[in-house]
Amino acid sequence: MDELTRNSLIKLTEFFDARQVGDVGPLGFRRSTNLTTLLACAERLMAESIIVPGRSAFLDLGCADGRVNLFFSYLTRVSVGVELDEWTLDEYDPLRGELLETLKVSEMAPPNENVYLFQGDATDEAVHGKIIHETGLGLADFDLFYTYLIMHEEFAHMLAEKAKKGAIYMVYGLHKIMPRYPGFRLMKELSPMEGVLALYEKE
Ligand SMILES: C[S@@+](CC[C@H](N)C(=O)[O-])C[C@H]1O[C@@H](n2cnc3c(N)ncnc32)[C@H](O)[C@@H]1O
Repeated sequence: MDELTRNSLIKLTEFFDARQVGDVGPLGFRRSTNLTTLLACAERLMAESIIVPGRSAFLDLGCADGRVNLFFSYLTRVSVGVELDEWTLDEYDPLRGELLETLKVSEMAPPNENVYLFQGDATDEAVHGKIIHETGLGLADFDLFYTYLIMHEEFAHMLAEKAKKGAIYMVYGLHKIMPRYPGFRLMKELSPMEGVLALYEKE
């Protein structure tokens, strides 16, 4: 990762980690990823050629305010997210605006214009149709899938049917006990990365 990208991502992680959601209070169901931890994972994922900068296509299943998408926009060709709750997704634009200002002031690079977010159920084929329509990508075209625990089994079931062989399913929020999903190989040699991210390879 080049210096500008790393420094920009550090700024982005500081921005969002100061605004973590759901660790306390009633919004536990939409807890947000700690992006500082994700940055440490991303360095390793790049070293392992699991993320190929500018080439990989990324999809966050349950993207909330799109923070993980903004993060991955620096590291992937396209960064797509699907969120069920409209009001949660509505937080994306104002947060992005504030982030851009923060990055500009510190002369950092803005996220790439490769983020596409969709409102709906990530298992709904009508939503998949909208993704194809806007990005040209079906589920079988994505290299990297991500979810923060909620619905991880249902998503695994869907991806077992629809993702391509070799696609990577990343599940954040796990620790020592990592579930197995039919159709996927747990990448034991790498999981749980930073004690929190389990990686599965589609067989
Ligand atoms: C724990 S949050 C994670 C947000 C974000 N990915 C992150 O890591 O910061 C999970 C999000 O998934 C959404 N969600 C739950 N079921 C969903 C579904 N079937 N399709 C799309 N989004 C869903 C919830 O509304 C919630 O915002």
